[in-house]
Formats: sequence, C-alpha cells, structure tokens
Amino acid sequence: MEKINVLKTEEEINNRVKELANILYQKYQDEEVTFICTLKGAVFFCCDLMKNYHGDARIEFLRVSSYEGESSTGKINLKLPLNAESVNGKNIIIVEDIVDTGYTLEYIRNYIKGMNPKSLIECTLLDKKSRRKVDIEPTYSGFEIEDLFVIGYGLDYDQKYRNLPYIGVVVKE
Ligand code: IMP
Repeated sequence: MEKINVLKTEEEINNRVKELANILYQKYQDEEVTFICTLKGAVFFCCDLMKNYHGDARIEFLRVSSYEGESSTGKINLKLPLNAESVNGKNIIIVEDIVDTGYTLEYIRNYIKGMNPKSLIECTLLDKKSRRKVDIEPTYSGFEIEDLFVIGYGLDYDQKYRNLPYIGVVVKE
C-alpha cells in the first residue's frame, strides 16, 4: 500500500460524528427523520451518524456518480434512484461524504425537492469550500478541508481505500 498522511484520525472523526448526531437530534427531537445515504462514499459516515442519533430514524440509499479518478466530470449520473413515497412528506437529511464543486449536492437537492419532502437539509462529513463551482452550502459539515484529494472512511480513489478508519491523503512518490 502507498504511504498515506493522516488528515483526520479515527478519534477526531468519532468525536465530530457524535457532535453532529447531537446537533441533529436537538433539531428534530420527537419528529421522525429519514437519512438519505449517498452511496458509496457516505456509507461509513451515515451508519456512524445514525448509531449516535437517538431519535426515530429511517434510512434510504441513493447512488449518483460524477467522479472518475481524481476529478469531477461535472455530469451527474443517477445510478440508484429513490422511491417517491420514502421522501414525500418526510424530514429528509441528505448525508454526503464530501462536497467539492457542489454539482452533486445541487443535483441531489433538486432531485429530492421534486419529491416534496416535509423538510430538507444536508449533512456532509467534509467540505472543500475553495473548490466550489455552484453557490451551495451544506446545512451541516463535519470538517472544512483544503483542496486535497482525500481517501478513507468511505472515500475512495478508483474504489480503493474506503476501508481505512481515518481520512488521509496518498503521498505520491
Ligand atoms: P462534487 O460534485 O464535485 O461536489 O463531488 C462530490 C463527490 O465527488 C463526492 O460525493 C465524492 O464522491 C467525490 N469526491 C470529491 N472530492 C473527493 C475526494 O477528495 N476524495 C474522494 N472522493 C471525492
């Protein structure tokens, strides 16, 4: 395996995920929420977030893709759609791994809005604000990071490294 510089340790991630889960619970309390996990990158984050969320919660999965290697193609493909009845009239939390250019989140937000949720917010683990191409701001974000291609804790480089328990950057020789 290549050398990897750790950017966020497992402990830092766990602590922040607990904080985010508490913030979400304070917001919704007795109201049911639906976490929409965007595959594949957000799967670890979404599971940990839900395990630390102590209110009524459902989970649904959505898969879109825009990335090839290390760059966003800007063209979003819907690979696994949602059922309208799992969104209609529900409190929706879109769970994303990382917001980069913002094209993906903008697409997902519009897609879900079209299914008439009761409310809609976004929670991303990472935010690369400096790379934004569209005017979009996720409601909650775990960590703002600089313009680096990161891997681990669900994030991949050509499908590798998702299983690392931390977030890191591959050191290129
Ligand atoms: P956006 O549409 O440019 O905001 O890209 C969002 C998607 O690109 C994310 O959901 C990730 O799947 C992927 N992505 C963006 N930056 C990274 C990165 O640094 N590492 C791994 N995947 C990334």
